[in-house]
Amino acid sequence: MSLTQQNPKTAGRFIVFEGGDGAGKSTQAALLCEALRKNGHQVLQTREPGGTEIGEKLRSLVLDHGQGTVDARTEALMYAAARAAHVEQVIRPALDGGTMVICDRFVDSSLAYQGVGRALGEDAVRSINEFATGGLRPDLTVLLDVTPIAGRSRRTVGADGASVAEDRLESEPDEFHSRIRDAFLHFAKREPARYLVLDASQSIEELARAIASALGPLLVPVTETP
Ligand code: TYD
Repeated sequence: MSLTQQNPKTAGRFIVFEGGDGAGKSTQAALLCEALRKNGHQVLQTREPGGTEIGEKLRSLVLDHGQGTVDARTEALMYAAARAAHVEQVIRPALDGGTMVICDRFVDSSLAYQGVGRALGEDAVRSINEFATGGLRPDLTVLLDVTPIAGRSRRTVGADGASVAEDRLESEPDEFHSRIRDAFLHFAKREPARYLVLDASQSIEELARAIASALGPLLVPVTETP
């Protein structure tokens, strides 16, 4: 991957974390935000589906059990609708204002889960997402690669050791999660300049160090220009 340094005062960068469920994306996103803030960057941490009032409502509709049947096309459109609101109301304004945006999941999650996992086809899902986002793409995507079995065991045990219930997508069988994993690895291979692929079985500290070293130029403290 390559990430050139722009003027951090005027150009927000858009960094996305992707990967299977239980890969540790939100932990790493939070650590990266902390490191960027320490170095004087304005940072926004956000997630999909969600990030806006309407997006959080769509998140519950699409992920909670007990909402009736959510067929594959409806599911893809709900993620895309939440994303449209997120880009329009939150992400673009932040980037335009020079803020670094760190986002948990973006379009590639829809390509993997709905395009490949639900077999809607990558092209169809890409086209509704082009409309939803106006073509916005991440500057960098960090893929935390996790095996379906490791992902399931991580996400179903909470920090206190108690068991955590899986949402509608998480409770899909290992075979579904295995196709999602292969899809993400394929996207990364196809676009190596945009992707940083890391083995999510490493410790939290090792992963944070690898991400920080890849983002080196952005972690140089921002200095005031006279
Ligand atoms: P996730 O970030 O894993 O939520 P949490 O960490 O709270 O469990 O995302 C929720 C689920 O939504 C996850 O199973 C993947 C799925 N998803 C899609 O299927 N398509 C999408 O476009 C997005 C953004 C998420």
